[in-house]
Amino acid sequence: MLKGATIVVTGGAGFIGSHLCQRLLEEEAIVICLDNLSTGSLANIAHFANHPNFHFVEGDICQFSTCLKTFKGADYVLHQAALGSVPRSIEDPHTTNQVNVSGFLNVLEAARQVGVKRLVYASSSSVYGDLEESPKVESRTGNLLSPYAVSKYTNELYASVYQRLHQLPCIGLRYFNVFGKRQNPYGEYAAVVPRFINLLKEGKRPVIFGDGNQARDFTHVENAVQANIKALLAPYQATGKCYNIACGSSTSVNELFYAIRQAVALYDPRAIEIEPIYAAPRPGDIRFSLADITLAKKFLNYQPTHCLQRGLAETVPWFFHQEQK
Ligand SMILES: NC(=O)c1ccc[n+]([C@@H]2O[C@H](COP(=O)([O-])OP(=O)(O)OC[C@H]3O[C@@H](n4cnc5c(N)ncnc54)[C@H](O)[C@@H]3O)[C@@H](O)[C@H]2O)c1
Repeated sequence: MLKGATIVVTGGAGFIGSHLCQRLLEEEAIVICLDNLSTGSLANIAHFANHPNFHFVEGDICQFSTCLKTFKGADYVLHQAALGSVPRSIEDPHTTNQVNVSGFLNVLEAARQVGVKRLVYASSSSVYGDLEESPKVESRTGNLLSPYAVSKYTNELYASVYQRLHQLPCIGLRYFNVFGKRQNPYGEYAAVVPRFINLLKEGKRPVIFGDGNQARDFTHVENAVQANIKALLAPYQATGKCYNIACGSSTSVNELFYAIRQAVALYDPRAIEIEPIYAAPRPGDIRFSLADITLAKKFLNYQPTHCLQRGLAETVPWFFHQEQK
């Protein structure tokens, strides 16, 4: 079904989007990557940029006309373009809202106008907010803790309205802390896994915010890619819903630090001596995040293939040999 299909990946030059583009090309789809390169890069797509089925459009989802033009003739849209990071959204809520909410509405409306068959979009575990209950099930969310969480929750509301009002089939994927190769380790908004790997590689001490006992359901990017592909292929009854996309197991940030240190030490034994620095907890951070993935298993036939250990074993080497694709 994907062979020969035209699939737009918004944010396709980003971390998750570039893995999606690559996988879709392997499935012999025609891939159109729409990205404004704000947090993504051409380096992420360099190894398939010349593939005959790959087309790169440098453009902004905040321009409705760009979305409309790019989506024309597309069968499916995989929407990844957004500004990630909770702290960024607290510091600059306007820009997060513009890209993640208004941009999302442009994507939805353009998808409706050109008549795409299905829209699969990136939501986030941040929608669970302060809900203490564990593991998180899709039907119960808590008080939202950041503008980023508001933006992702708003995406879900809009998608549900568009499906009901305009019969545009939509599937939301609530990603839980995705990590893997090509994830940006630099800058104040970098995610924890690439940041730790890179600092340890440079012989520096990573900072852990809080006591390090906060836990996450770290999810290797291969699992997120699988979920997107299965969301495209799933029967119609699977649409109109959001799914947790995770491993279904939780790891504290302290445990993560030691697992990464061990993996980095295989390349540089000096890393084993490095201890983290502890700093004050960050506002907006969720304390415990563990997913119940029953719904995705049932409706999408999702089966995570990469646990944290396997994911790290595939990720850490990339930071040492970045020519590896
Ligand atoms: N990485 C995670 O752990 C995680 C967790 C939950 C949700 N998500 C969501 O998954 C999606 C992909 O995240 P990622 O980690 O790959 O981030 P990323 O920053 O690597 O990728 C986002 C891509 O979107 C592009 N982009 C941003 N604004 C744009 C705009 N206005 N127009 C066009 N392109 C634009 C960026 O240039 C980048 O290439 C995002 O929607 C993010 O919110 C990610």
